Amino acid sequence: EYFIYLRKIVTSMPYDKFNGFLFSNPKFFDVNYKINPYMHGSVDKYKSWSEWSKIVYKFRKYNRSVHAVDYQTYDRGKRNIENLPDVVFVANHAMPVPDDGFILANMNDKEREPEPYYFNEWADYNDYNVRTINENLSFEGCGDAKWHPEENKVWMGHGIRTDEQAVNRVDDMINAEVEKLELQTDDYYHLDVCFEPLGKNEAVYIPEAFSSDSAQKIENAFDNLIEVCDEDKETMGGNCALIEKNRVFIDKVNNCTAKKLRSEGYKTVHVDTEEFMKAGGSVDCLFLRVP
Ligand code: ARG
Repeated sequence: EYFIYLRKIVTSMPYDKFNGFLFSNPKFFDVNYKINPYMHGSVDKYKSWSEWSKIVYKFRKYNRSVHAVDYQTYDRGKRNIENLPDVVFVANHAMPVPDDGFILANMNDKEREPEPYYFNEWADYNDYNVRTINENLSFEGCGDAKWHPEENKVWMGHGIRTDEQAVNRVDDMINAEVEKLELQTDDYYHLDVCFEPLGKNEAVYIPEAFSSDSAQKIENAFDNLIEVCDEDKETMGGNCALIEKNRVFIDKVNNCTAKKLRSEGYKTVHVDTEEFMKAGGSVDCLFLRVP
């Protein structure tokens, strides 16, 4: 415990405006509707549990505050959580705001609409401040919000799931610079499947996911852009996750992109998200940072 604590203090961590990570367990994970082009196939329940557990375990090696919530304990028998196969993707349930709390999501598709209720219950129970935005605006939490690891700035995606108006609302609500990025294809339906800022001057991205103005914005903001390799695009290479300074979690099949990251000085940690890819998600969708 003590050494882990010390390690946390001595390494200068990006994202140190957040205290830990939250996961939501995959008890009811499945693929039985299609709201993004990746969704297909049948889920191996045992495999999804085992992949998810290994990821949580690996996160615990690098952070002492990794929590896993069982949303069913907040179900109160009324809301039929067993009909919500995507609740494992907790990244979409809210956006954390440093030193403040969370802004709750409003899901774009009716299939996922009941999900943020569970997050809200968890956050309430744990004494977090939770704010909401107008329920007529779609806002999919960290799926479309990526905090800059070293600046008081957040990049926000809109155009496919999250409404631009919702981004404007968030901008009014928080004390940080908001940079809007317009998404333009269903393949890259969330910002977190095509963009991951890694530091002051570096980010991973997929240029064709963005409108030309937004791609330009990214190109102007970072000197060193690491493009996801073509062969890794279908397997969520863009959904890699910086979890502490210079350390990136990425699915093990994305060898080409992982190699690029290592040649830029990053350490890569390889995880297996094969089952979750059947729903259109990989490692970055499976957790939410908590303030
Ligand atoms: N099936 C889910 C959806 O389409 C996957 C969400 C993945 N999460 C993410 N942050 N990209 O909404």
